[in-house]
Amino acid sequence: MTSDRTLNILHLEDSAADHELTVLTLRRSRLRCQLHRVDSLPDFQRLTDTETYDAILADYRLPGFTALDAWAHVAQKPQHPPFVLLSGAVGEAAAVDAIRLGIADYLLKDDLPRLPHVLARALEIHEARQAREQAVSDLQESERRLADLTEHLQSSIEQERASIAREIHDDIGGALTAVRFDVAWMGRHSTDPDMQSHAASAAEMLQHAIGASQRIMMNLRPPILEQGLVAAIQWLAAGFERRSGIPAQVATSSESIHAGPDVQLVAYRTAQEALTNISKHAHPRTVHIDLSDREGVLTLEVSDDGNGIDPAMLAKPKAFGLRGLHERARTVGGWLDISSRPGQGTSVILSVPLTSPSSPPAPGDAL
Ligand SMILES: Nc1ncnc2c1ncn2[C@@H]1O[C@H](COP(=O)(O)OP(=O)(O)O)[C@@H](O)[C@H]1O
Ligand SMILES: [Mg+2]
Repeated sequence: MTSDRTLNILHLEDSAADHELTVLTLRRSRLRCQLHRVDSLPDFQRLTDTETYDAILADYRLPGFTALDAWAHVAQKPQHPPFVLLSGAVGEAAAVDAIRLGIADYLLKDDLPRLPHVLARALEIHEARQAREQAVSDLQESERRLADLTEHLQSSIEQERASIAREIHDDIGGALTAVRFDVAWMGRHSTDPDMQSHAASAAEMLQHAIGASQRIMMNLRPPILEQGLVAAIQWLAAGFERRSGIPAQVATSSESIHAGPDVQLVAYRTAQEALTNISKHAHPRTVHIDLSDREGVLTLEVSDDGNGIDPAMLAKPKAFGLRGLHERARTVGGWLDISSRPGQGTSVILSVPLTSPSSPPAPGDAL
């Protein structure tokens, strides 16, 4: 740390004798340092602008200015060194003033033998503060990078899903449909009853496979979003009702919600995950979905009256569903609130400020 290298110290002092005394005092201590004396304000300003110092020692009263004028110049620099007042008596008021303005410490010249200690402490505090600031800025930087990465991963996932859906549609879907037509044709043109019955059951299985591939495509890439967010959410709710037998009501502020395609997709995925969670964990009697774009904010609330979230479950390492929703919301400048009480149900609320009165997405650019 500071003790294993020579410290570069600027000494603002008009008395050469006092400067010599200070140099001697420091030389006798364990601190290795070199002092540079300066006694005019313009010189002090020039040196602090061009050189870097580990610390500044300053007499209070100098010809035509005080240490506070010097401090005012240094204090505005983002990375200024600690500034220690080393002065004859200046009066308590001035000393208090100086400390209030952010000067590191204050030492009377009569107490000069304490200087090494005072200086070492000021340097330690300064280093600790710098380390803290560095840690805070490193953390901010790493959070920013993580947010960028999340955004990138989310959009890659959506692109990947869209391309898988396209392949299922073009290759598997197309082939299945063609085979079903051929099988139906064979059944119609055969006179053998056995052949007819096999063709019919094959056509039925093919119909089943076509249905399955359509369902998989829907989940991978919701084409329903092209009909607007309201229709897509209603479609999700209807599917949920059908599979779970739990009534799900959808209320919307208007027939169509105007939000950009990325916001619509985030809202859609949020509703999808919230409904999946409800069917997996909540055991509710009813589910309510509220969708609105009032006051320039898109809000989607999915609430149930089920058994609520056990707080311990939110912290479980693999709870990526809800955590992913928080991250997703952030990628479009929004946020997610989850309120839940044991036994009293859960509300998941997505809020996204709608920056411009954006037009509804053109068909096909929802993803
Ligand atoms: N609507 C809900 N009702 C009750 N518990 C819930 C609900 N939603 C989430 N949870 C609880 O919160 C946990 C975290 O949810 P999530 O992150 O989606 O993870 P996962 O669904 O994969 O378990 C779940 O494991 C569950 O215990
Ligand atoms: Mg989940």
